[in-house]
Amino acid sequence: MDFDFDHVVNRRHTNSIKWDFPIPGCRHEDPLPMWVADMDFPAPPMVREAIQSVAQHGIYGYTGPPPSYFEAITNWCRLRYGYSPDESAILYTPGVITGLNIAIQTFTEPGDEIVLQPPVYPPFFASVRNNNRRIINNRLIADGRSYSMDLDHLRSAITPRTRMLVLCSPHNPVGRVWSEAELRALGEICLEHDLFVFADEIHADLVYPEARHVTFASLSPELAARTITGIAPSKSFNIAGLKASVIIAENPRLKAELDRAHQRIFGLYNANTFAVTALEAAYRHGAPWLDALLSYLDGNRRRVAAFVEDRLQGVSTTLPEGTFLMWLDFRALQLSQAQLCDVLYNTAGVLLNSGADFGPGGEGFMRLNIGCPQALLMEGLKRLEHGLTPG
Ligand SMILES: Cc1ncc(COP(=O)(O)O)c(C=O)c1O
Repeated sequence: MDFDFDHVVNRRHTNSIKWDFPIPGCRHEDPLPMWVADMDFPAPPMVREAIQSVAQHGIYGYTGPPPSYFEAITNWCRLRYGYSPDESAILYTPGVITGLNIAIQTFTEPGDEIVLQPPVYPPFFASVRNNNRRIINNRLIADGRSYSMDLDHLRSAITPRTRMLVLCSPHNPVGRVWSEAELRALGEICLEHDLFVFADEIHADLVYPEARHVTFASLSPELAARTITGIAPSKSFNIAGLKASVIIAENPRLKAELDRAHQRIFGLYNANTFAVTALEAAYRHGAPWLDALLSYLDGNRRRVAAFVEDRLQGVSTTLPEGTFLMWLDFRALQLSQAQLCDVLYNTAGVLLNSGADFGPGGEGFMRLNIGCPQALLMEGLKRLEHGLTPG
């Protein structure tokens, strides 16, 4: 099946956070947004058709996820990740980060410590802090070519107050797809120290051919018993605005506690009418589109890596193993983070996420979203080149 990922769709004036909401510090009159992690591609035709048929019905009353919704999720997990959770382990949430917050509130107490592995997705920090829990930063190790988890530091940083670890797998922003061996080594520490694990696997579908996503909860029944996994079709099929995601807890005791917490947040239990339909259509019919998307993104990541190498002096990057995000290293330019953002936003006119927002290890970096048609990608890269060229 052929899908057209080259077509540029105008997203301005659609209430898009990426395109219509100014990034702080940007004064450029026509900046090109390559920041917020959604893509500039229409969702798969099968998803749009399913949504259109619900829209045409005209009645948008209270909606619950039907049995076929749970079946579509378990089929997807089995076929794409080789992971087979029971349908009863699945809980609807509008977002994976909603699920993370419910898990934090359910399984930890104020003052407890939660491990994050920065540089990492910024809302993890806010989720811990807003719930009055404390962050333990276990910084990733960078060897110049790739990143790994610092398990020695993790062992030494855990205290009796440490209750949970948030795993970002695949990892936003560095693009690592953790290997089974890496995950097993991490799992051993979580077992030794009796930690809950929130495995944010929202990027699990976006993995390039050289890597393979391993669901953390699939490693052993002992790890499954302490893991809450977050997945969603939102990144993979570009439907983040529909608010469709799930968390999975295979341990019935944890699931029952999550159910109770979920019910306490009045209004959360009813699903969004369009989200239910879109999730099911994406997981049932979206695989060919996703495969075509991955091959398009593979081209984009290689194009960016080659452009950075050949034409952006003082900038470096590596190919991500997963995600449609690339982590660009500007440290050789020796600019402060404020100066770096100013050059990119106001001189080059291209909006990337500031690395500083991703916590320790993020200074001097910017995150580039490559989930866009080639024409936009090349426009962004050329803007970067001109913005960084002196004079
Ligand atoms: C690692 C990670 N988790 C969660 C999210 C957002 O999830 P949601 O919108 O479902 O809360 C993102 C979005 O970029 C992400 O990169």
